[in-house]
Amino acid sequence: MELRESVIAITGAGQGLGQMMAITLAHYGAELALMDVNEQALKETQDQCHMLGVKALTYCVDVTSEGQVEQVFGDIVTDFGRLDGLINNAGILRDGLLVKVKDGQVSKMSLEQFNSVINVNLTGTFLCGREAALRMIETNCHGVIINISSVARAGNIGQTNYAASKAAVATLATTWGKELARYGIRAAAIAPGVIETPMAAQMKPEAIARLEAMIPAGRMGKTSEIANTVKFIFENDYINGRVIEVDGGIRM
Ligand SMILES: NC(=O)c1ccc[n+]([C@@H]2O[C@H](COP(=O)([O-])OP(=O)(O)OC[C@H]3O[C@@H](n4cnc5c(N)ncnc54)[C@H](O)[C@@H]3O)[C@@H](O)[C@H]2O)c1
Repeated sequence: MELRESVIAITGAGQGLGQMMAITLAHYGAELALMDVNEQALKETQDQCHMLGVKALTYCVDVTSEGQVEQVFGDIVTDFGRLDGLINNAGILRDGLLVKVKDGQVSKMSLEQFNSVINVNLTGTFLCGREAALRMIETNCHGVIINISSVARAGNIGQTNYAASKAAVATLATTWGKELARYGIRAAAIAPGVIETPMAAQMKPEAIARLEAMIPAGRMGKTSEIANTVKFIFENDYINGRVIEVDGGIRM
């Protein structure tokens, strides 16, 4: 796929990885549909894209809302006339142990804690992927859908909810790669390791130190290293249904 003048939608585009993906794609001439729940953050990303001379519009949307997602993908096609790419990047963490017993005290991961992560990370990816695929087919765009998974998809202590969601979005990419190929649509996933973003900053310092010591590359990844992988997937028409691991070698 040629990035110049293609129309790419990015969820969670207000900060962190999503913002860097937007800036990187804008640098190569893509037009951006920037989606997030945080309107102020979206404006900041939009300003940075405008400085690179491309069209970038913002859409304040909660990816867990079926009605909002259906509406926004219709709006994107009305505003841009086409849709060539989607990056399912919006995601949250609500870490905790499944069951914790300490000093006679018992705590559990609540159903709300489990569902909140599944709703944003998995259901949001399903809804946006479904609507994007529909619009790509309707407008005869041979587009690309990229799901942002995680190294945690292999399973990680304290991340029952997050690990399950990230394994699932990787599987969605494989499924969509098979299912949507008949329409000329590709799908893929990226499984980043630990990347320097506001999300990583939510982790306890001792957890970060423990992780960095485990990373063969000896450091956290940079947002640009994930954004460059996004660019690579868009531009390489033979990547389909696969998960690209960008983790400094940390995966077990
Ligand atoms: N940072 C890392 O180390 C790392 C590693 C592996 C995978 N990931 C994944 O990469 C993606 C981006 O991570 P990040 O570190 O940039 O996170 P971040 O918290 O910095 O940014 C996430 C963005 O998603 C938005 N968002 C949250 N809930 C939303 C919703 N319901 N609807 C729309 N937007 C919503 C937030 O407002 C925010 O702007 C996530 O899916 C995350 O799981 C991150």
